[in-house]
Amino acid sequence: MNRLPFEIPGNPATPLFLAPQAGVSEAPFRRLCRGFGADVVLTEFVSAEGIMRANERTAAYLRFDDEERPIGIQIFGAEPATMGDAAALVTDAYAPDFVDINFGCPVKKVVKRNGGSGCLRDPELVHRIVRAVEAATPLPVTVKIRSGFDESTRDPVRFGLICQDAGARMVTLHPRTRAEMYSGRARWHEIAALARALEVPVIGNGDVRSGEDALRMKEQTGCHGIMIARGSHGAPWLFRQSRAALDGRPVPGQPGVRARFEICVAHAHNAIAFEGDPDKAVREFRKHLGWYTKGLRDGRALRQRLFQVHDLDEVRSVLDDYLARVDSPQGVSMADGRPRAATGPGGGARRSASRAGVLV
Ligand SMILES: Cc1cc2nc3c(=O)[nH]c(=O)nc-3n(C[C@H](O)[C@H](O)[C@H](O)COP(=O)(O)O)c2cc1C
Repeated sequence: MNRLPFEIPGNPATPLFLAPQAGVSEAPFRRLCRGFGADVVLTEFVSAEGIMRANERTAAYLRFDDEERPIGIQIFGAEPATMGDAAALVTDAYAPDFVDINFGCPVKKVVKRNGGSGCLRDPELVHRIVRAVEAATPLPVTVKIRSGFDESTRDPVRFGLICQDAGARMVTLHPRTRAEMYSGRARWHEIAALARALEVPVIGNGDVRSGEDALRMKEQTGCHGIMIARGSHGAPWLFRQSRAALDGRPVPGQPGVRARFEICVAHAHNAIAFEGDPDKAVREFRKHLGWYTKGLRDGRALRQRLFQVHDLDEVRSVLDDYLARVDSPQGVSMADGRPRAATGPGGGARRSASRAGVLV
């Protein structure tokens, strides 16, 4: 199988990708996931038209640090010429490691204007867009597709071949159609078919929620790499668990509550520092607070308090208060009653010296 068109430190056999995710995979989360073992990250999708208008919001989506590399900037649009211009501009202004084209976004506003998965209704347009982008940048051009627009256009191998023929150097497949949105299960056998059909590397994506899932996807599809989106929400350690599973090592358990909170606070700290406007940063961080506290005993009450905070000190104090209350001699603090082992960015499980038996 062909190698990826960009270098990855350590050259892992099955690289792990943090998926592009609007409103989620911003620089602080990308850095956090890199710390936990994501080998490659992508920006969220950015409109080619927005890039050409050079508006401030778009510029914020495109910012990244060198420590995030290798990183791809993902662009979307339905106009081949504008897509080419946008690719040239991000190449000059930001120099990412690759430019990724979004042919997967199912959001109505985007699809209506033929962007994202809307392009999958017009295979010839897909070809023209990839060609135009490929001609406009010296960087490797990659694509992310769904299996089709709906059942009648479902043909991921055909779309993959079109992209490869037009110059794409890597294809990521989320094997659901636009019509399916996120329902049902991702059809991994379509990833396997694509990996067999293409010469360029195929990255599998869809429904990886555990280290064991990552290993199963690799074994069942023969994909070159694995991309993770929702499974990483409030659980960036999924990359470490996936790496362990792929390497045939024991999969570390979930972090204990205290360790989770430490990771959450470090993430919030970086998000606030990155955003500049603390009030806005904390508002936008609420979704992460929701995810980090999912599954905790009395989680709903905790979230209600967290959703009212205005700064990092308040986040800390609500979390400390929760820990003080669950630090009972009974110990275990997950809603399902199962104790947890910890996996911090530094790796390994550490048992807390605390009386509570809350694992950190
Ligand atoms: C909140 C959210 C935002 C997303 N934004 C993007 C995006 O900007 N570009 C893209 O190609 N896919 C986007 N996706 C799709 C994911 O990259 C991924 O293909 C999909 O969630 C399936 O992977 P998963 O099962 O690991 O979540 C988004 C998904 C979510 C949940």
